[in-house]
Amino acid sequence: MTAQKDWVASAGVALSGEVLVPGDKSVSHRSVMLAALADGNSRIDGFLEGEDTRATAAIFSALGVRIESPSPSQRIVHGAGVDGLRASMEPLDCGNAGTGMRLLCGVLAGQAFDSVLVGDGSLSKRPMGRVIGPLSRMGARIDSGEGGLPPLHIHGGTGLHGIDYTLEVASAQVKSALLLAGLYAEGETVVREPHPTRDYTESMLRAFGVNIEHSPGVARLRGGQRLRATDIVVPADFSSAAFFIVAATVVPGSDLLIRSVGLNPRRTGLLAALRAMGADIVEQAHGERGGEPVGDLRVRHAQLQGIEVPAHLVPDMIDEFPALLVAAACARGRTVVTDAQELRVKESDRLAAMAAGLQALGIRVEETPNGASVTGGTLRGGEIQSHGDHRIAMAFSVAAQVASAPVRILDVANVATSFPGYDALARSCGFGPFNPA
Ligand code: S3P
Repeated sequence: MTAQKDWVASAGVALSGEVLVPGDKSVSHRSVMLAALADGNSRIDGFLEGEDTRATAAIFSALGVRIESPSPSQRIVHGAGVDGLRASMEPLDCGNAGTGMRLLCGVLAGQAFDSVLVGDGSLSKRPMGRVIGPLSRMGARIDSGEGGLPPLHIHGGTGLHGIDYTLEVASAQVKSALLLAGLYAEGETVVREPHPTRDYTESMLRAFGVNIEHSPGVARLRGGQRLRATDIVVPADFSSAAFFIVAATVVPGSDLLIRSVGLNPRRTGLLAALRAMGADIVEQAHGERGGEPVGDLRVRHAQLQGIEVPAHLVPDMIDEFPALLVAAACARGRTVVTDAQELRVKESDRLAAMAAGLQALGIRVEETPNGASVTGGTLRGGEIQSHGDHRIAMAFSVAAQVASAPVRILDVANVATSFPGYDALARSCGFGPFNPA
């Protein structure tokens, strides 16, 4: 458990220069998982040195996989093979990581041995029924706490069979868990989605030599395949870049270059939403990194106008609502978010946390069961509860850049789960000081 840490964030100057944010969290989790299951050695470059992804790597070490770290953001994974994991005598600690826990459910359900997955206070409140349900249909046996909450006891040796399953919520984590379990299942596993979500598991399985068919909204693979080691290059995380995109948009005079960001279309809904609000963002695409499109983003200050965020964009910007709602607070008029009830089961209830925080800074927000309506205005200083949610903490540090007085943000230690060094990088391009409270 990390000690409580708070920030007092103050406004700085117009943002300028260049920033390069750390590696993508989703890709980093998957890279270490698939490399661990592969035959041979895989090298990972650009691995996110965040607490979430390090927890996943530590779990595979506990499952008997040798993982070296020759330099920061690099891993050499000596793959154990799809059938080479060994039981851990200890519970496996996923920390704060929903992605880690849900994807591991898929992997561990296919093993011959039992495992126990645990997480921190926030993860212990997040719903796991959405993976337990379909995995049980595949033949898995997973015991959970009350109401499908962690800790999870995953029974080994149950023998899995493929299913054809349509997800109830658009979730890349659930899809990925089923596809990973599908590697261990007899026959074919088909996963259909109500809206296409990030497809990193599918494309990375293919890069590891797995025969998988996928197109937006459906993926299928047959069990019994082996993975062949490969090298993975992790692109910079769009969700981390999002805080700089919004900050440069709302701080007058800003002109910031955000370099080499992963631009997978299932992640970049925020760009469409901000552009509809009047943002000035120029994409300079420059090819691929690890099979993913990457590009530089040049963001200049612009006066935003409130919009109704189109519901079809929600899954493509599911992690970006804390940042978007700060942009909405700086826009003229009202911004309305609907169809976003998933935000209530993220690292915190993000609709409630953002509504309370923005209200504390003097902004009018009406919260609805599946969204919020924000009327842009003038932000004042105040005290914010981040609920230990990294993205809430970073979003309010952006709000502080345009607030008339400092913003005290409580419980920010979890910023290190996805973005170690955030405060230093933000300072380097013009953010004001992040004093410890
Ligand atoms: C992720 C999927 C999304 C996202 C999370 C990372 C992934 O969660 O919010 O931060 O890596 O698959 P859901 O699958 O719950 O939508």
